[in-house]
Amino acid sequence: MLSQDTIKIIKSTVPVLEQHGKAITTVFYKNMLEAHPELLNVFNSVNQSQGRQQAALANTVYAAAANIDNLAAILPTVFQIAHKHKSLGITKDQYPIVGYYLLGAIKEVLGDAATPEIIAAWGEAYAVIADVFINMEDEMYADAEQMDGGWRTFKDFTITNKVVESEVITSFYLKPVDGNKLPSYKPGQYISLRIKIPGEKNTLIRQYSLSQAENGEEYRISVKREQDFEPNGKVSCHLHNQLVVGSTIEVSIPAGVFHLDVENTKPVTLISGGVGITPMMSMYETIAKETPNRPVAFLHSARSRSYHAFGDTLLKLNASLTNSNYAVLYSEEGDGFITREFLATNVLEGSDIYVCGPTPFMQSVIRDLYALGMPEDKVHFEFFGPAVQLELVEA
Ligand SMILES: Cc1cc2nc3c(=O)[nH]c(=O)nc-3n(C[C@H](O)[C@H](O)[C@H](O)COP(=O)(O)OP(=O)(O)OC[C@H]3O[C@@H](n4cnc5c(N)ncnc54)[C@H](O)[C@@H]3O)c2cc1C
Ligand code: HEM
Repeated sequence: MLSQDTIKIIKSTVPVLEQHGKAITTVFYKNMLEAHPELLNVFNSVNQSQGRQQAALANTVYAAAANIDNLAAILPTVFQIAHKHKSLGITKDQYPIVGYYLLGAIKEVLGDAATPEIIAAWGEAYAVIADVFINMEDEMYADAEQMDGGWRTFKDFTITNKVVESEVITSFYLKPVDGNKLPSYKPGQYISLRIKIPGEKNTLIRQYSLSQAENGEEYRISVKREQDFEPNGKVSCHLHNQLVVGSTIEVSIPAGVFHLDVENTKPVTLISGGVGITPMMSMYETIAKETPNRPVAFLHSARSRSYHAFGDTLLKLNASLTNSNYAVLYSEEGDGFITREFLATNVLEGSDIYVCGPTPFMQSVIRDLYALGMPEDKVHFEFFGPAVQLELVEA
């Protein structure tokens, strides 16, 4: 339990943190990773270089500080992060390391303004916040191990099939090397891959959404080859260009809070752009298998026909459903992008809406959905990177 004095100090530092939050977390990561280079095997250096991870952590720290006397208010956020941590194999002994360097960074950035009282209060508060994460993650790991065929962090899988789905997207079918049963997952969830690429100093971890309904046989992911910009994407290009049927990779147990409520039979609208189609495939297929009368709209935006993955499968799924609206726009073939008018016509009334795609796509679609009066609790979305703050106010 934190004392009233500590709570007061923590709350009064929120505005200071808001001002310096990003500077603090930037110093924190730099110092921590210099002292603990083994953590470079866990953190995504690209997200670091783009400042996305620093911003994500800074936002969470503000939220925690603002709610330090009522941490229940941030439990949904903790739950989402704990899913990501679980898929990365984060362990409880890593929390004191993060705490030590976070406090050190607060001292370094704030200088004399960070009095011993402030630092002591933050030490206590960090311990409380870390405990919330550790307890939630402990439970998740225990559940993961207890599942039929479950495991704790990473285990070896073999690539059993590789199927080209479009000019840039290829699917990889994965089966556990130990031959055990596959744990079930919810449509929309992702796995992490941990890969050692020859010539790279550190192992690399990346998340990929499961792109089909669960079938107990194998997991499938569908990966976009990130080869348009320099430097090329490390893991996606390695998967596309180097790994073949028979290659082994490490896979985490499925995780994530962006998933379809399969018990529900109310209308659903699935909206995706580009490779954001992957979690939607899992959701759409699951509806086709389990609740084929459920009203569903599948709305997709692709650059062109050759960039559109799963086109034939989608036509078949649409035909197999009694109440489905499938619409795809090819932006480079004259169809334009998904607009507010398009959404007004195609989003199902009263539906739960799932959105996934590049950040500018999500920003525009979600802004339009809110402008059309869709309630926030009906709009669910997934970032293919650390969550960022979307600018949803109209310019
Ligand atoms: C929950 C979740 C689900 C996901 N699902 C999918 C999925 O189903 N399919 C899929 O394809 N992806 C998915 N992703 C994205 C995936 O995890 C990877 O981020 C993606 O494959 C790129 O990884 P990479 O190693 O190939 O590229 P990276 O090496 O990580 O590079 C990513 C991009 O950053 C650029 N870059 C690299 N270094 C720098 C630098 N120093 N400065 C500036 N730019 C740089 C590269 O040019 C590249 O465009 C998902 C992500 C999340 C979080
Ligand atoms: C209370 C302490 C912590 C907080 C508040 C926190 C917060 C966060 C947040 C907000 C994200 C981004 C989640 C997303 O949007 O996907 C994240 C991801 C991550 N966290 Fe933590 N975290 C904490 C502790 C730790 C610890 C102890 C480790 C291990 C050393 C760790 C490693 C990571 C990694 C590797 C990622 C993913 C980074 C990426 O993909 O770029 N975190 N964390």
